[in-house]
Amino acid sequence: MYIYKAAVVGAGTMGAEIAQTISFSGIPVLLKDVDRARVEQGLATVRKIYQRRVDRGKMTVDEMESKLTMVQGATDYSGFKDVDLVVEAVPEKLALKQQIFRELDEALPQNAILASNTSSLSISALGGATKRPHQVVGMHFFYPAHIMKLVEVIPGLETSEEVVADTIAFSESLRKLPIRVNECAGFLVNRILMPYLNEAAFCLQEGAASLREIDDAMVSFGFPMGPFTLVDNLGFDVCAEVVKILMDAFGGRMAPAPIWARMAELKRLGVKSGAGFYQYGDRSGQPDPDLDKVLASFKATANKKPTPFSVHRLVLPMINEAIRCLEEHVCTAADVDLAVIAGLGFPQAKGGILHYADEVGLPKVLSELEGLVQIHGERFWPSPLLKRKIAAGHAGVSAKKGFFDYTS
Ligand SMILES: NC(=O)c1ccc[n+]([C@@H]2O[C@H](COP(=O)([O-])OP(=O)(O)OC[C@H]3O[C@@H](n4cnc5c(N)ncnc54)[C@H](O)[C@@H]3O)[C@@H](O)[C@H]2O)c1
Repeated sequence: MYIYKAAVVGAGTMGAEIAQTISFSGIPVLLKDVDRARVEQGLATVRKIYQRRVDRGKMTVDEMESKLTMVQGATDYSGFKDVDLVVEAVPEKLALKQQIFRELDEALPQNAILASNTSSLSISALGGATKRPHQVVGMHFFYPAHIMKLVEVIPGLETSEEVVADTIAFSESLRKLPIRVNECAGFLVNRILMPYLNEAAFCLQEGAASLREIDDAMVSFGFPMGPFTLVDNLGFDVCAEVVKILMDAFGGRMAPAPIWARMAELKRLGVKSGAGFYQYGDRSGQPDPDLDKVLASFKATANKKPTPFSVHRLVLPMINEAIRCLEEHVCTAADVDLAVIAGLGFPQAKGGILHYADEVGLPKVLSELEGLVQIHGERFWPSPLLKRKIAAGHAGVSAKKGFFDYTS
């Protein structure tokens, strides 16, 4: 189905960026929020994004004005009668989103697609709020949505294949890189990201290495920023919500390192609150007695010597979770690698997390995981598919077959 006209519900951070993205590809889009002031704020964000392009010489003022005519504000559904696809981007609350989906079900034409930008809520639960669950789909953009290429397209239990295909085609028409992610908690990217961030926190609280050493090591590995800089940018509160959902679905291996709770008590939410793992603004680079106190208290109660830090201690939980996703048919191996590069900043030169595992060699990945189980327990428990691959002789690049084929 070709999308002639789209709409975005929620003109906040993500909604405005998504509306800009849609208009940039030449598709008219309505941007709806609860009142005129918020709509105007959203439209101002859209203009700001275009203005930055003008300032950088990437488009003329006339081109900007012409693109801006593609975005119309709305405070009700009166313009939705000929909309082909809606992206919902209201706050992450299930009851609110279900209410919006009920309203959209009434307002939209019969064939329209109802997409949600939810980061973590069940697409099936949103579909269940409508009389057309087969036309409800997840369309998860990453922040900032006008820059980040990855879009996770997530079918719920009843979403039709046609709607998935149309949503993927629509994402491609926005010049994005869509990947199909079968529904699971955290979808793909957040599910792989959180065990990595969590392991960094365990390393820190154990005293295995300092904040800066861990961040620097991961940057040297090839990430654009270290895990603590990333958490501070994402916002600790946002990460905590995702971890809660992952733990609810997958249990103990997702249990947050205790230092997270201490950071929450101190209201250190990251860049937005002026301090997270690092300090920002006037206190940037200054001594940090509060964090030192937290780390000292963990050191005082630790009953064993800190284990040595290694880059693999952070990378292996990502590899293991990615393999579990394959095992559950959440997505393909190629899409895992695309997603970690485009969504997480995993070093492109390494080809993605599963190519990296193949390069290291799957028997080595397994023996390192087993070693970490001995020290840190079951959160490193190797996924059964890893063992099956090894048993089948798919040992990685050296065997010319691992998660990918290397025969040619
Ligand atoms: N911010 C991120 O980094 C990020 C990344 C990916 C996905 N998401 C997801 O995107 C969604 C939106 O997040 P955000 O950060 O843009 O939130 P936000 O708070 O910046 O914006 C939400 C907007 O929705 C509006 N809204 C509330 N109720 C409404 C209603 N009944 N009708 C119309 N508009 C309504 C609010 O007024 C606000 O303008 C969430 O589901 C979030 O999980 C966020």
